[in-house]
Amino acid sequence: MFFKRLIYTLDRIKGKDPAAHGRLFILFFYPGVHALIAHRFAHWFYRRGFFCMAELISKLSRFLTNIEIHPGAEIGWGLFIDHGSGVVIGQTAVIKNDCTIYHGVTLGANKESFNGKRHPTLENNVTVGCGAKILGAFTVGENSKVAAGAVVLEAVPKNSVVAGVPAKVVKRF
Ligand SMILES: CC(C)(COP(=O)(O)OP(=O)(O)OC[C@H]1O[C@@H](n2cnc3c(N)ncnc32)[C@H](O)[C@@H]1OP(=O)(O)O)[C@@H](O)C(=O)NCCC(=O)NCCS
Repeated sequence: MFFKRLIYTLDRIKGKDPAAHGRLFILFFYPGVHALIAHRFAHWFYRRGFFCMAELISKLSRFLTNIEIHPGAEIGWGLFIDHGSGVVIGQTAVIKNDCTIYHGVTLGANKESFNGKRHPTLENNVTVGCGAKILGAFTVGENSKVAAGAVVLEAVPKNSVVAGVPAKVVKRF
């Protein structure tokens, strides 16, 4: 399962990034892939209650990649974290399949929590532009795009583009 998932992710990245030369190139040189591999291990320990081990892996990964993924975050298949620097993904964030996240993105908490959930959920095939901040326990609907630099404070419907501070829907498709 681990390898199937890894190959799937490498192929998704190859399909999305014109600068990618192949699976091995991506595996060796893309910090987003390294952070995801580390997260699989950290999440495995986290789910079994080995919180210190999970945190150790997560922090080591952050040191090496500059991408911070909390061990509790749930990440689906095919996530492409492009460039990676400064990405923060919070504890109760959920990222479904085939999403793309650029550098400087935060999936963070805001003032409120709902049944313990404080961070956003990205549905399938969501793109989050560089520097965007998505803050709170709401959902970004499938296929939607969050423009670079946006600050999103409320739910985003599916098939939309949101932009600005605070972010508003600027396009539906
Ligand atoms: C949002 C984005 C995905 C564009 O999606 P799109 O479906 O092609 O949408 P459009 O380009 O038609 O833009 C729709 C509207 O949003 C506006 N818009 C797009 N990006 C914006 C941004 N970052 N901030 C503010 N407004 C933005 C456009 O001006 C347009 O407004 P208009 O209808 O008044 O002209 C793209 O602008 C973006 O931000 N991509 C992120 C890319 C990135 O982070 N690259 C990093 C590479 S290192």
